[in-house]
Amino acid sequence: MIATRMGRVEKSRLLELIVLGQQLRRVGTDFIDLGPGQPDFPVPDLVIEATVKALREGHTYYSPVLGVSELREAVADRYNRRCGAKYSSANVMVTAGAKGALYHIIGSHLDEGGEVIVPSPYYVSTPEIVKLWGGTPRFLPCRIENGFQLDFDELKALVGPASKGIVLNSPCNPTGAVIPLPLLKEILQLAAERDLFVIMDECYDRYVYPGFEYATIPHVTPDAALPFFIAGSFSKTFSMTGYRLGYAVGPADSITAAGKIQSHSMNGVTTFSQFGGLAALQHEEDIFAPVLDLFTRRRAVLLEEIKGLSDLRWVEPGGAFYLFADAGEWMARTGAKTSEELAARLLKEGGVMVIPGGTLGQEGFIRISFAVPEDQIREAVRRMKAFVEK
Ligand SMILES: Cc1ncc(COP(=O)(O)O)c(C=O)c1O
Repeated sequence: MIATRMGRVEKSRLLELIVLGQQLRRVGTDFIDLGPGQPDFPVPDLVIEATVKALREGHTYYSPVLGVSELREAVADRYNRRCGAKYSSANVMVTAGAKGALYHIIGSHLDEGGEVIVPSPYYVSTPEIVKLWGGTPRFLPCRIENGFQLDFDELKALVGPASKGIVLNSPCNPTGAVIPLPLLKEILQLAAERDLFVIMDECYDRYVYPGFEYATIPHVTPDAALPFFIAGSFSKTFSMTGYRLGYAVGPADSITAAGKIQSHSMNGVTTFSQFGGLAALQHEEDIFAPVLDLFTRRRAVLLEEIKGLSDLRWVEPGGAFYLFADAGEWMARTGAKTSEELAARLLKEGGVMVIPGGTLGQEGFIRISFAVPEDQIREAVRRMKAFVEK
């Protein structure tokens, strides 16, 4: 009875590792979790207060489909102030996380049978969303030798008659690569020439470390005239993963089209969540300054400690909170045939959880999150060293 469409969609290959972690915790085995894909600080108090106030004031009814107007305006203003965009609220749809934005924009711009270029490694859901909408992801490998940046000539060569769009992710989960402005300009120029939509998934837009520079669509085209979109999120900047709050930004007619999907699926995002998000945007700079300091220190600790691990190759992540390392030598040394097997053994025998790159489109690699306290980073690296050198 299950639709054939579901046969195209992969179930999470991470599930086994997660179950193993749960089993170990249940029997009291201690391990350090370097898997987290979310920050560990609590939702800021002023966000909670604004959410509770919204509840008490009766913001408990259906939301407008495209979102509460004050929040749509605040998102447009954020880009106008920060990047010189010329957006209005008509360019913004509030979604259930950046995931909701990816889902609705792809659904409203991709016909069945169309191809979408996805640089790999990738955020785990991106290719599956393309497949759910009847499209085919075409992967563009981004190599460690190139700092995990996409190669523009390779991108050009991959664009064919069935190509409909490109989904970029900067700063990137899992590599931390940040797309520089000149490369972004080239990509958008190509997309305009070849009539492709572009989505910039920028969940980690504030997690950009010293020496690296954030670049996004309005830095190149400020007026949302072309089908270029931003998929943004409150999840990482404000630690609001459970609020399920994000947004899509793009041309007004495209936002209206994407809104049709939202209107016939979830209707809109939880109304009082949106008032929490509005307060977060109003205090964004104050909230995020200490977070960036904290994560800059954690990144420095990881980069310092990890030098002590032999036979692991990595490049310094410019953004997000992950380091993506080539663990091919570790696999050879331990006899692990896949990154999943290596991660399972590192968890069971070494007491550290990392995410296998095979589940993110790059076999032979592991993703190490530094969204954990510094002492845990130090202890985890010590354990990894003991594991590979035993
Ligand atoms: C690159 C990327 N895109 C999208 C998402 C989805 O985030 P959310 O739907 O919570 O905004 C994530 C979450 O980890 C991510 O890492």
